[in-house]
Amino acid sequence: TLYLYQQDFIAKEQLAISPDDRGYYFGDGIYEVFRVYKGELFEADGHYRRLELSSADTRIPLPYSIPELHAKLLELIHLNRLREGTVYMQVTRGIAPRSHPYPAKAEPVLMAYCNELKRPLQTMQKGITAVTSADIRWLRCDLKTLNLLPNVMAKQQALDLGANEVVWHRDRVVTECSASNFMIVRNGEIWTHPANHLILHGITRDVVIRLAQKLHIQVHQAPFKIEEMMSADEAFVTGTTVEVTPVISVDGVYIGQGELGPVTRRLQQAFEEYVG
Ligand code: PDD
Repeated sequence: TLYLYQQDFIAKEQLAISPDDRGYYFGDGIYEVFRVYKGELFEADGHYRRLELSSADTRIPLPYSIPELHAKLLELIHLNRLREGTVYMQVTRGIAPRSHPYPAKAEPVLMAYCNELKRPLQTMQKGITAVTSADIRWLRCDLKTLNLLPNVMAKQQALDLGANEVVWHRDRVVTECSASNFMIVRNGEIWTHPANHLILHGITRDVVIRLAQKLHIQVHQAPFKIEEMMSADEAFVTGTTVEVTPVISVDGVYIGQGELGPVTRRLQQAFEEYVG
């Protein structure tokens, strides 16, 4: 497999990462995970807009323009003959001796690679289980940064409890999951946390909201609490890797019938058509 490192395509074994890379010391970097369907980058523009937001607010510059980046990522997909999978890319603030201030001279370091990955058809049918957990993250969850320790800890907490995922909450208001956004269905209408600084503005979340509106399903981008989730008819997560996956139980209690529900299924079908 070939990796993209700065401007070059390099075999993984040949790739040398500096111990002075600020991504390594501080998690001082930003990233994106794209879906690839049929050799094409899915919703690329949305990912680039989010990357530009992460770049602007962290002041981690992108090493080249978005059209150049797009061409490089397509070349990466092509060189690796990827049809179905993901592209991971990150940009760190660069290489400098460990010191907190932004280094005056560092150049950003870009690295990207792709992975084969089939669509999660089985879990989309069977669903996943979740446990609630306090959302202990900072107040800029809208930035897609490498600082994922809270996400990693939460995911492991879920696995240790025999569940697949966490549902994070702040003072009982449900925010999102460790690597996906979260939605519930009540009386045929969808509720999901507003896209503010407390959640990542998921690309899949956006697509699903647009598809729901097309299907005349009302979407409330408004806070809701654990109690409303527990008494919901359906719950599901959205994300680049999980697409639209039902959450059938939380803290050991079934949500609705404890299976893939009708609204979730309609959204899965609409998503499938949209992907093409
Ligand atoms: N995670 N919320 C969080 C905290 C995420 O990390 C992600 C994505 C999402 C869903 O966003 P999108 O629909 O744009 O993938 C929501 C990626 C896949 C990851 O870190 O692997």
